[in-house]
Amino acid sequence: MFFPRSPYARLLAFLSLISSTFAAPSASDPCAKIAGQTFSVPSDVLACWKSFPFNETIRDNVLEVHQKVFNFYTFEDYYLNSPPPFQESTTNIRAELARIQGTKYATDYDFNRDLYNFVTGLNDGHTRWFPGCYTLIWQNILPAPIVTLEVNGIQGVFIAPDSAEFLAQFPPSFAASLNGFDFNRLAGAQIVEIQGTDPFNYVDFIASTVSGNYLDHGVRVNSVFSSYRIAGGTLSQRLGDLAGPPFPDLDTIEMKVILANTTKIQTVNIPYRMDYLGPAFTDKNSYWAANCAVQSDTNGVDFNAVGPTKNQGGAPASKSHAKGNIITVDSKPGNALNLPPPFFPTVPPVDGTTSGVILSYILPDGKTGVMFVGSFEPNDFNAFQTDVVASINAFQAKGVTRVLIDLHNNGGGFVCLGLFLHQYLAGSKIGYPGFETSVRGNQLAIEIVKANNAMQITDTFYSPVNWAFFNDTVMPVTHNYEFPVETTKVNGQFDINSQRFHDTCSESFVVPIPENPPFPLGKVALVGNGNCASTCSLFTTLMVERHGTKAAVFGGKPGEQVEYKGMAGNQVLEWADLDSEVKTAHLKSDPLAAPDLVINGNFRHNWRIAWSFLDESRPIAYVSEPAKFRFAYTKDTYNNPQNLWTFAAKQLF
Ligand SMILES: *[C@@H]1O[C@H](CO)[C@@H](O)[C@H](O)[C@H]1NC(C)=O
Ligand SMILES: *[C@@H]1O[C@H](CO)[C@@H](O)[C@H](O)[C@H]1NC(C)=O
Ligand SMILES: *[C@@H]1O[C@H](CO)[C@@H](O)[C@H](O)[C@H]1NC(C)=O
Repeated sequence: MFFPRSPYARLLAFLSLISSTFAAPSASDPCAKIAGQTFSVPSDVLACWKSFPFNETIRDNVLEVHQKVFNFYTFEDYYLNSPPPFQESTTNIRAELARIQGTKYATDYDFNRDLYNFVTGLNDGHTRWFPGCYTLIWQNILPAPIVTLEVNGIQGVFIAPDSAEFLAQFPPSFAASLNGFDFNRLAGAQIVEIQGTDPFNYVDFIASTVSGNYLDHGVRVNSVFSSYRIAGGTLSQRLGDLAGPPFPDLDTIEMKVILANTTKIQTVNIPYRMDYLGPAFTDKNSYWAANCAVQSDTNGVDFNAVGPTKNQGGAPASKSHAKGNIITVDSKPGNALNLPPPFFPTVPPVDGTTSGVILSYILPDGKTGVMFVGSFEPNDFNAFQTDVVASINAFQAKGVTRVLIDLHNNGGGFVCLGLFLHQYLAGSKIGYPGFETSVRGNQLAIEIVKANNAMQITDTFYSPVNWAFFNDTVMPVTHNYEFPVETTKVNGQFDINSQRFHDTCSESFVVPIPENPPFPLGKVALVGNGNCASTCSLFTTLMVERHGTKAAVFGGKPGEQVEYKGMAGNQVLEWADLDSEVKTAHLKSDPLAAPDLVINGNFRHNWRIAWSFLDESRPIAYVSEPAKFRFAYTKDTYNNPQNLWTFAAKQLF
């Protein structure tokens, strides 16, 4: 399951396996020591990483890219003083960049880690620095995923009771790498302390320093725990951010636990192992070449020269459809573990769903239809739409009277599929199903739109043909929607944005939209764990703000607030996307344009903002809407979707 997918990559992996078997390992090369292993001791991986020296040319290049991309970032000015309850994210972005520019680092890793920590600390999953050398190819795994459960009326932190079955899905080399450590006995243990502190305090610490992605601290608390989701087309379980962090910061973690069926408190030191998911390497030089050196798809391209589908780092669909999503290593294909089969629903899924991101069921009560929408990023854009139709048709045919939509760990995806689901449930008679939106009006953005107008470009994201006026007429290619710019004051700064406009999603709806809601909207409710990113957040906000839909959040820390929505932007651009916009507009030599990255990495950013339906002077990301319905997980529901849905249906309908 951890083998590269393309035949070419498999061949390379095979060849390097042979060569690593026969090449004499160099004692002085810490990367050779871990070469060919899937599971390594974290400090051994760190030693490999720290063998790459700090290089000021690389630092200056990476920071110049950050400086210039941040000019496009919709939320920059909000960070100077993040409004409550989001104060934890307050950051002076330009001061942080200046600090990093002025720091001498011991190694390339130390520089990248500092930059990574600062950008991740913005808690916006749309806006992340992923250095290819150190991220998205490794995951540090603890064989003790934690959950929060209510037992006898008290919420506590436990090692997931299903952890033995769950972790048994790793290849045997995982258990073998642990030097005899028996993790099976930890299943269901109650945790009394983690690293010498109260377990909920430690969870708060991980939520503040590791999780990122979500502006709301309460939502990040739920990222720390193990929880169910859809991945790889089936029901899956996340390790969570304590048991599956990105970096090799700890070799072991100390917990005081009461093992299941015992009463005595014991101290255990549980080992982490770094799981390698990248291309094969044999030593320091081949590790650098495969992961850290600039790759052919690191930077953007001029669409006039190569055509648009060659771009996007292997994800051609993102060209034609705007995306709002997060990127996590634990949902990468080949790195997702299934939910153990005993916890799958006992009712069968309804027929006809094929997108791999929607699983629908009718509960044993015969009245409740459940659509588990695990993501808005199917492999096939149209299949998502036909899945929704198949689910609703099946519900209606079987006499279902109410619909529960589960959004556990929905990482977002295509913006127009979020708006599609809203439109399908609410009916065509509501008109435009989205938000007012805009991009920033910086000088280079204005020049890019002008160039799109002059060259009549239609295949970029800046092209006016992607957007509509408020009457939902698509803009002509010669329309400059940057002018006149809209200037507001945010935290004392002049925040300059384009004119506001509408998304153009109905143009990509391939199924007929019912005029009226297929189910009364009062009979539709949402459940999840708040980990509902970007497009998922747009969808839930539309349902709650426009229709008063009930939205329930499970889990969290007792006594601490949780927003029902995760992090709401309106569109993210990967670094290569933005670079392609600049190159296609023939503006790469403009002093405001960022240079090509000289190493492998992706600095993505939130490019488009969605303005609240309730208050059109505020981005929905900053409108606090705590979940009105909060429920604790129990041993029967944390990993058992059908039990959770049955419970939720009783509470919400
Ligand atoms: C620093 O990195 C640049 C860009 O990759 C490279 O050309 C240069 O040789 C490196 N300097 C050293 C001292 O390795
Ligand atoms: C604890 O006891 C229950 C009931 O006898 C059993 O099902 C479970 O496997 C035990 N757990 C452990 C970790 O031994
Ligand atoms: C829609 O609005 C635009 C901009 O105000 C206007 O130019 C256009 O004529 C309108 N189209 C229709 C069909 O009303």
